[in-house]
Amino acid sequence: MDNFIIHGSKSLRGEVKISGSKNAALPILAATMLTREKCEIRNVPDLMDIKSTFELLNYMGKKCFFGFNVFSVEEASALKQHAPYDMVRKMRASVLVAGPLLARFKKVRFSLPGGCSIGVRPIDIHLEAFQKLGAQVSYERGDVIVSAAKLKSARLKFRFPSVGATENLMMCAALIKGTTVLENCAREPEIADLAGALRCMGAVVEGEGAATIKICGRDALKGLKYSVMPDRIETGTFMLIAAAAGGKLKLLNTDLRLVEAVTRGLKKAGVKISTACPPEAQPTPVREFGRRAAPKLRWGGITVEANGCRPAPIGVATKPYPGFPTDLQAPWMAFMARARGESLIHEAIFENRFIHAAELMRMGADITVTDRKAVVRGVKRLLGAPVMASDIRAGAALIVAAAAARGITVIKRVYHIDRGYEKIEDKLRLAGMRIERVKA
Ligand code: EPZ
Repeated sequence: MDNFIIHGSKSLRGEVKISGSKNAALPILAATMLTREKCEIRNVPDLMDIKSTFELLNYMGKKCFFGFNVFSVEEASALKQHAPYDMVRKMRASVLVAGPLLARFKKVRFSLPGGCSIGVRPIDIHLEAFQKLGAQVSYERGDVIVSAAKLKSARLKFRFPSVGATENLMMCAALIKGTTVLENCAREPEIADLAGALRCMGAVVEGEGAATIKICGRDALKGLKYSVMPDRIETGTFMLIAAAAGGKLKLLNTDLRLVEAVTRGLKKAGVKISTACPPEAQPTPVREFGRRAAPKLRWGGITVEANGCRPAPIGVATKPYPGFPTDLQAPWMAFMARARGESLIHEAIFENRFIHAAELMRMGADITVTDRKAVVRGVKRLLGAPVMASDIRAGAALIVAAAAARGITVIKRVYHIDRGYEKIEDKLRLAGMRIERVKA
């Protein structure tokens, strides 16, 4: 297992290229199961979860190639319809093969994903929705089996705007003749990116980004060439690292429109945020994520400027998009650990997403956690210490804290961070941080 060693209190300068979105790439790669034709997905980040998806798709009968952030998929043999435990256990997003396989073969068997450190993470919303499309659900030795003599288009409403359930049902509906109407959908930008990919495959999808999405399914879908949107959670994480360390950092291949909630918070806390290069100065036009025949939209980039002083205390409550993203709650708490006062953080999405608080307290933070609420009393100084990552975003929070802390921080179990951030130490070193990866 690797550790990060970070020497804190060093301001950052320069440029960081934001990678493609992990949480957009994973459903789009799953969507390649909807077609037997060749697919080519670009701007795919080189992360552990992508490698797990590579293994899963190959196991299921696809032939995958991945290099230089390009992921190609061809159908090598008849697809298996069973995603086994040791693959699903490694990565919860494996559940996203359910929608495509159910649609194509009217049957799919996969291991119940189990929980993780941030919560139980059931999949009842996915299963109830499949049943609304005419499927039956049964359980056997830790697996769930979803099957249907015939799937039918329907109108259904999610009890909660689940990101994964919205994605699974969009993919399933894309191969069901007729119009399926999904209500109370997740509105995350990654949903719009999946909609764009399904449109490129021949499905008719309308309404992504709003609460109601309509999908007119086809008998068969085509292969596609598609480029994944920028990673908005990586973007927000780097904005918080720059705000905590101080200095001036330019984030390229991303856009302020993807991070409006965290930008509002940072500006209130006293951080200067602007578009790095206004559209007219943009070097090359790029496609807007998810929209059909949209005008060539350009990622404006972001400049973050901070003096490294203690920020104003700003409380946040996590919400489904466009609210404050739960995946940035931990990095935000780390930033507030040095605020000039007390801030309240409410985690409304996951039931156990404050594990990072104890690690931040080892660095001198003053935090009280009660159920889903954390009171952060800002301190003058954080001090480097040995700490441990417990999930992707908790690990990112420790980097934010280490950037602001005096002295050396050793972050253990860096493999959690590697699941969500491509070459993060190289990007940070290029921006001036003293960080190195060492074998534990
Ligand atoms: C996606 O997870 C993301 N993962 C998560 O990012 C993100 O935190 C989450 O959405 C919320 O934005 C990927 O996209 C791969 P949900 P997902 O279904 O789809 C409950 C990261 O760090 N729920 O919207 O699993 C669930 O327990 C990861 O990149 C049910 O009760 O999230 C949770 O409390 C972490 N039943 C809430 O809904 C269900 O059937 C949100 O879950 C499904 C979900």
